[in-house]
Amino acid sequence: MRIGLVGTGTVGGGVIEILEAKATAYREKLGVNLELACICARTEEEVAPFKAKGYTTSTDAMSMIADPSIQVLVELAGGYEMPRQWITAALESGKHVVTANKAMLAKYGHELFPLAEKKGCHILFEAAVGGGIPIIRSIQEGFVGSEVEHLSCIINGTCNYILSRMTEAHLSFEDALKEAQAKGYAEANPTFDIEGVDSAHKTALLASLCSGKYVDFEKIHVTGVSHISAEDIENAKELNATIKLLGLYIRSEAGVDARVHPCLVPNNHLLANVNNVINAVYLQCDNLGPTLQTGAGAGRLPTASAVVADLVSLARSTDSGKRLPMPMGWFNKENAATLVPIEETSARYYLRFTTRDACGVLASITGIFSENRISIESIIQKGVTDPGKVSIVVVSERTEERKILSALKAIDALAAVAEKSQMIRFLK
Ligand code: HSE
Repeated sequence: MRIGLVGTGTVGGGVIEILEAKATAYREKLGVNLELACICARTEEEVAPFKAKGYTTSTDAMSMIADPSIQVLVELAGGYEMPRQWITAALESGKHVVTANKAMLAKYGHELFPLAEKKGCHILFEAAVGGGIPIIRSIQEGFVGSEVEHLSCIINGTCNYILSRMTEAHLSFEDALKEAQAKGYAEANPTFDIEGVDSAHKTALLASLCSGKYVDFEKIHVTGVSHISAEDIENAKELNATIKLLGLYIRSEAGVDARVHPCLVPNNHLLANVNNVINAVYLQCDNLGPTLQTGAGAGRLPTASAVVADLVSLARSTDSGKRLPMPMGWFNKENAATLVPIEETSARYYLRFTTRDACGVLASITGIFSENRISIESIIQKGVTDPGKVSIVVVSERTEERKILSALKAIDALAAVAEKSQMIRFLK
C-alpha cells in the first residue's frame, strides 16, 4: 500500500519512526506491505532529513495527491482549510485517508465523510480522539452488539494534568497551567485545551458515532476549566469527589445530550482515578454494561501508533478487497441530531457563594432555593475567610438546570453576594 504522508511534526515523525521499525514485521506477520511512497512538509528544510535517508519527498501536497500510484493520504499537518482541500482531492481521486485532525473533522466531517462514502473510500481517524486508545474502532466495531447509553470521557490531557496537579499538589490553576506549559503538554496558546474546545471536537465525534446522528460541535454546551479554583478542588475532596473535565454523551428520549464541562466525579468512580495526561473513555452499554478504556491521549508515539493501526487496518481490508468502507455517509447536516438544551438537563449541583459576613445572608440564599423548588442536600460554611467574606458551599439534590440557573441569577443579584457564584455539576 503506497502511502503519501503530509506533516513531519510530532505525530508525523512518530509514524515514520514506527513504520521504519515495524514494516518488516507487518509484512511477515500480518501480510501487509506499508510503503512510505512520499513524505511531504511545508519546506525543503523540514523534508531534508527524510530526503537524506532516501525517501521521495515533496513540499507540494496537491502534486503528491495527484500521483496516481499513491493509494492513501495520511494527513498529519493540522489546521483546517489546507487539510480540507487535500482530503477532498484525495477522496475525489479514489484515495483513502488517515488523519488525526479532530478539529478539522469536527468542522468539515459533514462534507468529507459523505464524499468518502460516495467514492467508496475510507476516512480513518483513530488518532483524532483519545490518542492511542482504540476508541473509534471500539465504538464502530467492538460495541455494535450493544447500544451506548452513556459515555463520559477524559479526552484532554492538558486539562487532566492541570486538575490533577491542583488536586495532588494544591497548586493554583495558573501555576498548574505554567507547569503543563513547561513540560510541553499545553499548546503555546492553550485556549483550545483549557476552554474545552479540543474536548468538544472529540466529544462531538464520539457522540456522533454513538448516536448515528451528526452532532455539530459548535452547538454543544462547552465550559472549560479556567474558572476552577483551588478552593473548589479542596471542597470537592471534602465531598469525596475529584474535579475532572468530562466530555459527555447521554442517550435520551429527547435526543442527544452531548456536552463538555467540569464535573465532580465521586471518588469511587473509575474516572476519578485517571490522572495527569492520561485519557479515559467510560461507556455504559445496554447489553455489555460498563467498560473503561484508558491510556495515553496525546504524544508522539501513542498518537502515531493509532495512525499506524489505521494504516494496517486499511491495508488488510483493501488488500483482501472484501471489507466495505465503514459507512459514514450519515455524518451530514441532513441527519443532524436533536440536541438536548443544557437547561433541560438535570444533575446534582455544587454551588459556591462568596458573600459578605452579614445577618440573614444564608437565609436569603436558602430562601431562593426554596422559591425555585430546589432541594438542598448539604451545606458547608467555612467561617470568615478574607476579612468580612464568607464562603458557602451548597450541594443540591438532583434537579433541572433551568431551576439552578434561575436561582443563581437571583442569588448573584443579592447585595450581600460579593463574587459571581460558582457552579459545577456532579457526574452522578
Ligand atoms: N491538546 C490535546 C491534549 C492533544 O492536551 O490532550 C491531544 O489531542
